Amino acid sequence: MPDLILPGLIDVHTHLRVPGGAHKETFATGTAAALAGGITMVLAMPNTNPPLTTPEAMEMARSAAVVDARCDVGLYAGAAPEDIQQLPELAASAVALKIYLNDTFGKLRVDDLPALVACFNLWPREKPIALHAERQSVAVAIGLAAIYDRPIHIAHVSRREEIELIADAKGRGLPVTCEVAPHHLFLSAEDAPRLGALGDMRPVLGTPDDVAALWAHINDTVDCIATDHAPHTLLEKRAAEPPPGVPGLETSLPLMLAAVQDGRLTVERLTALMHDNPRRIFNLPQQPDTTVEVDMTPWVIPAGGWRTKCGWTPFAGLTAGGRVRRVVLRGRAVVEDGEVLAAPGSGRVINGM
Ligand code: DOR
Ligand code: ZN
Repeated sequence: MPDLILPGLIDVHTHLRVPGGAHKETFATGTAAALAGGITMVLAMPNTNPPLTTPEAMEMARSAAVVDARCDVGLYAGAAPEDIQQLPELAASAVALKIYLNDTFGKLRVDDLPALVACFNLWPREKPIALHAERQSVAVAIGLAAIYDRPIHIAHVSRREEIELIADAKGRGLPVTCEVAPHHLFLSAEDAPRLGALGDMRPVLGTPDDVAALWAHINDTVDCIATDHAPHTLLEKRAAEPPPGVPGLETSLPLMLAAVQDGRLTVERLTALMHDNPRRIFNLPQQPDTTVEVDMTPWVIPAGGWRTKCGWTPFAGLTAGGRVRRVVLRGRAVVEDGEVLAAPGSGRVINGM
């Protein structure tokens, strides 16, 4: 008997690198990593190469996902000023729109106000808008939600000032939701020197006070745990100008289970953060007969042996609270004794509502 049975988890923030970065991750390798981590649905980010800002690029990603995905996948469309008029067309094959207001890996960025306003006017109202917003950009994002009276979702919140502003916005009834990534909950700037490039991502690791603020709001303001799984090879991470980003699909649930073990999180709240809220916020379809069986024996996270193509983790040495033993997706065993059984192409590509 498993210690715990959870619904199939949903990660609303995954970078799967196709097109253009198959040496870092593919739909086949990334979705194997997802299933091994108890995640049966991922939303893939648009900062690929080319980015998912045109129908042609969107089709490249969609057709690769159809052939390769082992769990269910939804795609984000990306906002680029030069392609902004194509947004309505992109919406047909996307679950949500992603707008980058701050610097990160890749060139996708919306810096000028007319392009930003156009996003809110052109993107269909029934599909969510997610934003990479840091510091003052969080206020910009919340302002747009208020002006256009439509929901926004703020990705990977990492600082006290940001989570407190979002708490105020929610308190005033504004339609704002947010996610926090495990690396911003289990690592801090104090780990950055030890980790070097392996601890570098956008947003960067917060101070211990930022981390404390995220935990303090885990039960009221944080809506989702999202991995921001951003694989880069070790070779790239060891180069002179390493790209920001860390993998996280296989370690997200095990780490959050450590918080359950030490009483910082209930199983009900974990289920809300990793399944119920992601599904509601992004209008995602139900996965019937889908369960994750968990063994609650603590274990130390190893440096290697991962299914993600990048093969490393920034969490090596931390103690996880449990591990995935078995995953059933739509009635079929897709993980058994930790082994991924799902074939490429067995996952579904979803379009949202
Ligand atoms: O560190 C990051 N890397 N943050 C992001 O938001 C994007 C990501 C990537 O694509 O590598
Ligand atoms: Zn990201």
